[in-house]
Amino acid sequence: MIQEFNQINKVNGELKLPGDKSVSHRAVMFASLAKGDSVIYNLLESEDIYSTINAFRDMGCDIVKYQNRFSVKGAGFKNFKEPFRPLYMGNSGTTSRLICGILASQNFTTTLTGDESLSKRPMKRISEPLKLMGAEIETSENGTLPVIINPSNRLKAIEYNLPVASAQIKSAVLLAGLHLEETTTVVENLPSRNHTETMLGLKTEKRGGGNKIYVSHKDYPEPKEYFVPSDISSSAFFIVLTLLLKNSELIIKNILLNETRTGILNVLKAMGGNIEIIDQKISSGEMYGDILIKSSKLKNIEIPEEIIPNIIDEIPILTIAGIFAEGDFIIRDAKELRAKESDRITSVCENLKLLGLSVEEFEDGYKVSGNISSRKITFQSYHDHRIAMAFSILSLVLEQGGSIENFECVSISNPSFLEQVQIITTDEAG
Ligand code: S3P
Repeated sequence: MIQEFNQINKVNGELKLPGDKSVSHRAVMFASLAKGDSVIYNLLESEDIYSTINAFRDMGCDIVKYQNRFSVKGAGFKNFKEPFRPLYMGNSGTTSRLICGILASQNFTTTLTGDESLSKRPMKRISEPLKLMGAEIETSENGTLPVIINPSNRLKAIEYNLPVASAQIKSAVLLAGLHLEETTTVVENLPSRNHTETMLGLKTEKRGGGNKIYVSHKDYPEPKEYFVPSDISSSAFFIVLTLLLKNSELIIKNILLNETRTGILNVLKAMGGNIEIIDQKISSGEMYGDILIKSSKLKNIEIPEEIIPNIIDEIPILTIAGIFAEGDFIIRDAKELRAKESDRITSVCENLKLLGLSVEEFEDGYKVSGNISSRKITFQSYHDHRIAMAFSILSLVLEQGGSIENFECVSISNPSFLEQVQIITTDEAG
């Protein structure tokens, strides 16, 4: 489906966004692991989260929506039922990576499959550390899905140094370690998002610029009540829209403010963005609060390597802010972007070239300079939700508007994106 956007003049009002994707995946997983009844409030209802929900339903967990919450009847330690079909991971990298750590300790064989995009993404980064732990796990010859996990009776704790700053790899090892008596440790040189650690309450020590994290069976989750703060990555699209439009002011409510995720706020603020946190609270170990954003004049800055894992999902929309900011926009040390739902380096560069901008592509990033031509453009989403939303925001800002091909992929993380745009632009009239 092609979605057209016309230019809007300003946004204002208040926005409530659905739950954070990373926290939602983990809330469903941890509630399914715990023996008994858990409740989840503000769970994101998107395609990716349904990949997680359906996988645990297929393994015997009752997960039911009731009014404003989900109730989950979790299986308990090594007590999932053998699924009667392969577990379908859809487009979800997080489901497919994290679940391997859980399945490594179950007493049955599972096969994981996924859609075309997920079936091209690397899984050896998960199978390798799990094999070091004694897991019986095999990827396809290309190192991708389908992945087959067999029961193993020789699982053991390890100390693992992450070769790339990836919360998904870290979490797969930690979740396997959750099933062992001895302590498993994971060392990361650069901090990646830490929701697995905060939500399970894992012991973490600072190590140089990174962390050392400890896990064992004593950290196994109990049933509980979860509140999922709203998604900071989804909010980034509306933050950039507000900054770029004139006479605009927006409040976004209850946004996740975990410090391994707020890099986007720090970078945009350093670029001159008027962004203020106006109320901060804490729930299930996670900080959240309201943020106030006002129209701003932006200037590009040097983006340091250490912050890349923290802003990895926001780089497409940060680039949109960057092309309107003073100076050239440069992103480096971000090779991981090539292993996302699409190769996000190429996806962003190809779309920006359509605008007449001068784009230099590197293996680990790109540099954008020059001026936007005034043609009306149909941007490619590359079936990647974050590319679709980043170029939708750009289209709302461009005088000539713009269109997005295969726009429907936004439902991977934010099925109500269009309604949200509507809410803040309708307010303009009032
Ligand atoms: C996620 C981790 C990140 C991120 C993804 C969600 C998570 O991937 O890109 O959208 O919830 O753990 P990597 O950890 O592989 O960089």
